[in-house]
Amino acid sequence: MLRTIASGLILGVAILAANERPLLADAKAPLARDRVNHHGPLIIAHRGDSKVAPENTLPAFISAVQAGADLVELDYLHSADGVPVVFHDKHLDRTTNASKLWGGEKIELTTKKLAELEQLDAGLWFGEKFKGTKLPRLDESIDAIQNGSITLIERKHGDAATCVKLLRDKKLIDNVVVQAFDWDYLSDCHKIAPELVLGALGHEEVTADKLDQVAKTGATVVGWEDKYTTPETIRQIHDRGWKAWVWTVDDPARAVALVQAGADGIITNRPADVRRAVESAQAAK
Ligand code: G3P
Ligand code: CA
Repeated sequence: MLRTIASGLILGVAILAANERPLLADAKAPLARDRVNHHGPLIIAHRGDSKVAPENTLPAFISAVQAGADLVELDYLHSADGVPVVFHDKHLDRTTNASKLWGGEKIELTTKKLAELEQLDAGLWFGEKFKGTKLPRLDESIDAIQNGSITLIERKHGDAATCVKLLRDKKLIDNVVVQAFDWDYLSDCHKIAPELVLGALGHEEVTADKLDQVAKTGATVVGWEDKYTTPETIRQIHDRGWKAWVWTVDDPARAVALVQAGADGIITNRPADVRRAVESAQAAK
């Protein structure tokens, strides 16, 4: 009898501990809104540490975290069976062996099921050392990045509800940033998860009309194309009360100039080099 009670207690404590673990982890996880509001420029690794390891793969994400990136950006699309998979292009050809494996060209990721996508090699195109690297799912990519940084999730294809559900299931809705060029998608996210930190991506000229559209999305960050970013456009974004991030900036001198013009975040394929340049410019002041 006593043994039964003791086993029950041990089991109860074990269940309690198991249930508590995610809550304790959540309590310690940095909040995305704090990171976004951090004073000083954020260095954001574009598609992971993508000059060091194949873009949008786990080795690239781990390397970016080790390089000290404040956020690590990735892109995702839904597979044919609705699973968010991390990948940039519409077609699988450039960074996988899809054509070699299945024949044909311009094979669209969204036409393949997860089980098919898992057969692909997404590392060999970058270097022999990365042969056998798989296309990661969004959930496992987030796990790799949140182990030391914050995920900047860029949606390329897929509905808002699936992404929000994934983040809620992982108890990470407050700990990541979601961005998109599709501002309707952002509005959908904002409707179902008002607490989610959102970034509106834009390209070409910054206009008052475009910024009026952004204002309807719930975004608090605007990520604009470097070519069209000037001190004046950064000021326009700040005047609306938003943070101004710039993509994709690989020239350290340009990154320094943007930071001096007030940019709050630099999205770069060279996070370590850009951080070094920005920090040494700040130290020289
Ligand atoms: O983070 C913004 C940037 O990634 C947008 O361009 O084409 O690299 O997804 P793209
Ligand atoms: Ca992207």
